[in-house]
Amino acid sequence: MAAAAPILVTSALPYVNGPLHLGHVVGAYLPADLYVRYQRLKGRDIVFVCGSDEHGVAILIRAMREGVAPQDIVDRYHPLVRDAFEALGISFDHYGRTTSAVHHETSQDFFLTLEQAGVFTRKTDRQLFDPEAGLFLADRFIRGTCPVCSYPEAYGDQCENCGSSLSPKDLIEPKSVLSGAEPVERETTHWYLPLGDLQPRLQEWIVTKPDWKPNVLGQIGSWFNDGLADRAMTRDLPWGVPVPDGVEGEAEGKVLYVWFDAPIGYLSITKEWAAEQSAPERWRRYWQVHEDGTTPQLIHFIGKDNIVFHTLIFPALLMRLNDAIEGETYVLPAQVPANEFLNLEGQKFSTSRGWAVWLHEALEAFPADMLRYALATTLPESKDADFVWADFQTHVNSELADVLGNFVNRALSFAQRFSGNVVPALHGPNAADRAALATLADFPARIGAAYEGFRMREAVQETMGLARLGNKYFNDAEPWATRKTDPQACANTIHVALQLCASLAVLMDPVLPHSAAELRAMLNLHDVRSSTPDPFAGETPIGWDRAGQPLLPEGHELGESAILFAKIEDEAIDAQRALLERRAAEASGEEGTSTESGAPYEALKDTIGFDDFTRLDLRVGRVVAAEPHPNADKLLRLDVDLGFETRQVLAGVRMHMTPDELHGKHVIVVANLAPRSIRGLESQGMLLFAENRDGQLIPVLTEGEPGGVVR
Ligand code: MF3
Ligand code: ZN
Repeated sequence: MAAAAPILVTSALPYVNGPLHLGHVVGAYLPADLYVRYQRLKGRDIVFVCGSDEHGVAILIRAMREGVAPQDIVDRYHPLVRDAFEALGISFDHYGRTTSAVHHETSQDFFLTLEQAGVFTRKTDRQLFDPEAGLFLADRFIRGTCPVCSYPEAYGDQCENCGSSLSPKDLIEPKSVLSGAEPVERETTHWYLPLGDLQPRLQEWIVTKPDWKPNVLGQIGSWFNDGLADRAMTRDLPWGVPVPDGVEGEAEGKVLYVWFDAPIGYLSITKEWAAEQSAPERWRRYWQVHEDGTTPQLIHFIGKDNIVFHTLIFPALLMRLNDAIEGETYVLPAQVPANEFLNLEGQKFSTSRGWAVWLHEALEAFPADMLRYALATTLPESKDADFVWADFQTHVNSELADVLGNFVNRALSFAQRFSGNVVPALHGPNAADRAALATLADFPARIGAAYEGFRMREAVQETMGLARLGNKYFNDAEPWATRKTDPQACANTIHVALQLCASLAVLMDPVLPHSAAELRAMLNLHDVRSSTPDPFAGETPIGWDRAGQPLLPEGHELGESAILFAKIEDEAIDAQRALLERRAAEASGEEGTSTESGAPYEALKDTIGFDDFTRLDLRVGRVVAAEPHPNADKLLRLDVDLGFETRQVLAGVRMHMTPDELHGKHVIVVANLAPRSIRGLESQGMLLFAENRDGQLIPVLTEGEPGGVVR
């Protein structure tokens, strides 16, 4: 049998103009991670890349509103987003960013190659320009009165009130969203991809993809029906990858369209990964047809709003690139499993209306595996789905805790109490024992078929099915009764139940990687192939397929057991719902006074007297050491020089910044706060941080000298 082709999995590069919410997670990231972890356990040659999409108008606008540089915005959110992915256990082999030098070079080379092959056409026309901001405006950034219904806040491309589709020139009294100025028309030249010319070729290619998801093929079909139009691949913007030197004519001040450069990010990030492996050419193994004809499989996980870019525009660019080069052939995507959208408690996620659950906050409240599991059972695979906090609690309590955790706990505690914490021998198994082992044998292939078919929800349900089977088997066997009447039958039950646990410790690994590792430790089960990349791992005998067979030899000593999943109390759920309601109320209540982005202000606290204020001793401190708290993942441990002494201070900001970002900074310290101990370390003061519109904390910095009084 020929070796299976290498696989490259990509997740849509998120724009880093804010933190991620749960709606983002279920689109392109969690399903991809499930798939990749499964394939790693299968022993497939697979690489998983993603990174921050750091160009684009949204980031520029955010920067202009805050009066900072776009680079500051992406430098702020890139680490936040990257760390939140990591905390959720999304196991990218490499997470890059599109402001990297490798990316700029790769996308510029790509553009130049196409340009020199005569792929682009140049067109000059009149576009709307904001004379105050000095920018050409995309339709979305123009607002005015709708000519149809007189709604005063219609967008340049559509009126949200009456649904009419508009062009910016239709609007009465159009205004730039950026500056409020009236836009003027200006001539500008851009490089277009004549996509219409490629439609027949794209159609021929899509015909070879009958296995793509119906929601994806449906969208592609309607794009074809409407007819593909030329698309501009350049923009007049002060932020982006500059149109490369060597491109003839009026390219000054122009950048590549963000949807031109971002998908090339998949390629540049694979190059960075390869360089990190000290094998700089290894990216070709995943991107280009091999000499022996092996075709690597490129799989793009995305949300439904990205379908046209991944199924038509980027493939068209790759086709044209292949036409333009010789001796190398880039692959086109083999699969584009796009998901629909997730709602939150019955409503759309909306940052401006305060209706969102931020990933980094959810991870502060609940273990990653609980979120992974509940989200995996709610993936919007074929239609929009709804995240409801009460359902989250039910998934955790009555499935993870009551079924999976309970089964494992019963099997391990019986082994501990009645077989000396070792796996007892199986002698003369009865029909039920044999049936349980026979059913187990089918599970890897059954769950695997669901993963291979991109039916992640089904895969996760099937996995939980094995735990259900274990529970039922254990109940029916009644080992607490046979212990006295038929000790061998009891030992057989323990034996079989432990084998089911061991298989679960492998098969649940894609969805519950942290808990699966814990369970393997409890079972003292080693030599299992890991679903997280480990370049130093040697040959590991136990992979996905082996998990259908008993994995624990008779007499095998077990480890120490513990509870796998603690139940979630009602209070924890109520707190999440209250938080959501409060943010939504603040967002709507403060509409009149809020800033342009609709962000709310927190209500003022009760008035205090001047004396109350003077009791606070605020001092300037210099952060001389910063590191993660050894036993608390939300805290940083800092040494702060106050001039007269150095204090240890713990700050709950680890989700917001890296230790490096605080090191050396002059900050403001509440210096007369009673010390308190948090997870084994004493905190001898408090640092001041300011919250921005997204709840991100930013240190309050000062130019004062350590020890100086702040008043
Ligand atoms: N940043 C885009 C979004 O969030 C996705 C980019 S995907 C890529 O919608 F292919 F362009 F990288
Ligand atoms: Zn209207």
